Amino acid sequence: MILVTGATGNIGSPLVAALAQAGQRVRALVRDPRAVTLPPGSERAAREPGVPWTFLRPRAFMSNALRWLPQLRTGDLVRVPFAGVAAAAIDPADIAAVAALALTSDGHEGRIYELTGPDSLLPADQIAVLAKVLRRDLRCEGLPDEEARAQMEASMPVEYVDAFFSFYVDGTLDESQVLPTVQEVTGHPPRTFEQWAETHADAFH
Ligand SMILES: NC(=O)c1ccc[n+]([C@@H]2O[C@H](COP(=O)([O-])OP(=O)(O)OC[C@H]3O[C@@H](n4cnc5c(N)ncnc54)[C@H](OP(=O)(O)O)[C@@H]3O)[C@@H](O)[C@H]2O)c1
Repeated sequence: MILVTGATGNIGSPLVAALAQAGQRVRALVRDPRAVTLPPGSERAAREPGVPWTFLRPRAFMSNALRWLPQLRTGDLVRVPFAGVAAAAIDPADIAAVAALALTSDGHEGRIYELTGPDSLLPADQIAVLAKVLRRDLRCEGLPDEEARAQMEASMPVEYVDAFFSFYVDGTLDESQVLPTVQEVTGHPPRTFEQWAETHADAFH
């Protein structure tokens, strides 16, 4: 029996589906905030002696493009923070595919998988793909850093905002490198952003 926590999430949801499709016995944990708490440091807890583990460390998710929905509902201009930062974003379905194999086949114990998609794209590149898939004349414009900071601080703790600025303005995190891990583990190439956009096109209408 495999228990999937975070089962309503971008990864958990396709992971439950992938495991069920593979004939595995799987249960999905749906959060009840009055009854469920997660221990801090999930990687640290997993390293306790006797607990077999495989860590998945995905880069930015393609599903982050859903953050542009409010702007796309009001027009064709999408204003983005960190416009000059490229990332080899990954389809959460590929993260789920790797997780399903790690849970159900041999050879993954004690491994750390850094997971990326097949292409390193700027936000403007992703928006150009969305424009093609949605058949809209979308345009991308970079937000000045001060404006980006003000917007982000309105929706998340300042520590998160500082971390994003450290990653993407100071350059302490590079998510642009394309890695072969998804192909190596699953035997198929990671899905492109265009494939992700086509699969999720309905969400943008
Ligand atoms: N977005 C990115 O670019 C990115 C990149 C690398 C890593 N990650 C990490 O990847 C992980 C999974 O991301 P995701 O997109 O699948 O997240 P998600 O779509 O936001 O889903 C999170 C899931 O965790 C559940 N959950 C949250 N707090 C919980 C709690 N206290 N107890 C039990 N369940 C709880 C949520 O349940 P409810 O439906 O009840 O809220 C939901 O099912 C996150 O840790 C994220 O930080 C994200």
